[in-house]
Amino acid sequence: MTPQTQPDTATATLASARPLELAIILPTLNERDNLAPLVERIEGALGLSGWEVLIVDDNSSDGTSDEARRLALSDPRVRVIQRIGRRGLSSAAIEGFCATAAPYVAVMDADHQHDPKLLVDMLACVKSGEADVAVASRFAEGASMEEWGRPDREKLSSVANTLARKLTGVELSDPMSGFFLLPSATARALVPNLSGIGFKILLDLLATSETPLKVKDFPMNFSARRSGESKLDRAIALDFLAGLYDKSFGRVIPTRFALFGTVGVIGVGVHMAILYAFLLFGGANFSWSQAVATFGAMSFNFWLNNFLTYRDKRLSTPKGIFWGWAAFIAACSIGAFANVAVATTLHDRGLHTVLAALVGIGIGSVWNYALSSRFVWGR
Ligand code: GDD
Ligand code: MN
Repeated sequence: MTPQTQPDTATATLASARPLELAIILPTLNERDNLAPLVERIEGALGLSGWEVLIVDDNSSDGTSDEARRLALSDPRVRVIQRIGRRGLSSAAIEGFCATAAPYVAVMDADHQHDPKLLVDMLACVKSGEADVAVASRFAEGASMEEWGRPDREKLSSVANTLARKLTGVELSDPMSGFFLLPSATARALVPNLSGIGFKILLDLLATSETPLKVKDFPMNFSARRSGESKLDRAIALDFLAGLYDKSFGRVIPTRFALFGTVGVIGVGVHMAILYAFLLFGGANFSWSQAVATFGAMSFNFWLNNFLTYRDKRLSTPKGIFWGWAAFIAACSIGAFANVAVATTLHDRGLHTVLAALVGIGIGSVWNYALSSRFVWGR
């Protein structure tokens, strides 16, 4: 074979391939062993060409990104986005929407809970214009759930579904589904207005769209996870409430600040509990007890903010947690100083004690929030 014949062969191969039509976004967190068999299943469902898989991995510790790269080396249909220092299922999906040239995008779990065979009908439905979004539903008639067996989550889901219907105005049986398909341009057009904080991306898309999107449900058989464990168990209710808040009041007081403030209020309770425990049972004097309570409450606030307010940027290594905690204590100490200084000045000028204290607390909180989003969780 002479070198000149090579382009012809390549052109022939390209011509037999269907043009790229669908990008399947697989957000991953420790899914190494699930990837290769899933790509195989996707090929089984969609054929040899016309699709690509976009693995959006949040720097999994099990080597998922390396495995994804290994697959991509021998298979150009597989692409990899490895994110370092960022986290979250929603933002991973958004990353995928913006990183593909395919006219349609689907998001699905990488753990084999979603059957890629459904993609064929979902794509046909959206392509024909029958619906704007195709949603694989665990609750539509004909759906089933193999070994899910989690009555607590099933109940939570049904409550969430009712709320979601009110929020989006769209009738759909499974708004929390993680398996859906839509035109990528539609998704990208909504991205600037999405809340983007860990909350369910499908619900976010539907609630954000100004003209109600037409949804079609596809009953699915929700299988058991193949390998690894679920990452969403504890988070789902929190995510949902945060999303609900964001869509209702998020423009008035940003969700993150509201969460930060809520943590602060809970922290006051913790402070009081520690203070009284030391005073009543420890026989300690007031200033000692107050010092311990302050320190305890700051540490508690750091922990809860890391768990809740900044869950998408959560510090998780021992080193990261230690330095984050130290930076948080430092930020709060400066905030406390600003708080006392402002409150004292206002009080001296005759402002009512309670009001002066509240203004001080308000200024201290904004300050703490600004400093810690920049220096503790700001990456
Ligand atoms: N990149 C990235 N970042 N991927 C993530 C993250 C993250 O922070 N958290 C989870 N994932 C990936 C997982 O690796 C998996 O491929 C997919 O997102 C879904 O996570 P699971 O851990 O499998 O979730 P689940 O099966 O418990 O939750 C199911 O039900 C939810 C609704 O109740 C899924 O179907 C979800 O998609 C669905 O929203
Ligand atoms: Mn899953």
